[in-house]
Amino acid sequence: MNAIDLLKADHKVVLDLLEQISATTERALKKRVELVAKLEFELTVHTHLEEEIFYPAYKAAGEKEQAKSYYEAIEEHRAVDSLVLPHIKATDPGSVEFSGRAKVLKELLEHHIEEEEESMFIDAKKVLTAKQLNDLGAQMEQRKKELKSELTQHAAA
Ligand SMILES: [Fe+2]
Ligand SMILES: [Fe+2]
Repeated sequence: MNAIDLLKADHKVVLDLLEQISATTERALKKRVELVAKLEFELTVHTHLEEEIFYPAYKAAGEKEQAKSYYEAIEEHRAVDSLVLPHIKATDPGSVEFSGRAKVLKELLEHHIEEEEESMFIDAKKVLTAKQLNDLGAQMEQRKKELKSELTQHAAA
């Protein structure tokens, strides 16, 4: 699978989880906690793949414009990872506050994913060759397996 198809497949999983979370009510306590944990797992793996492998290759292949997109995307990851996601995890799933925070999380991620798919990925196909995209895809597939098993072990410990 090439790099872009792999990242887009991850996006589908993330968007689906966000839809599921936003369909829950304050009564679905367990379900909310479960879905947020799943989302965090998927996002952690995906963000690592992008920041370790895909983004640096994109930035290296490009010029100033690509560097700008790179820093913008990293900053959006940071907003989700260090602010919105920790907040929602610390919020009572039985509260209306949770619903409000879930909505912001969904909006932020939808915006970020849309920018990647409608802008960065299209541009990446111009600055990177098909062979490079395939190699990056293979590297990410391998790294994804490692990250998933590391995270699963970490969670079980
Ligand atoms: Fe991203
Ligand atoms: Fe992404």
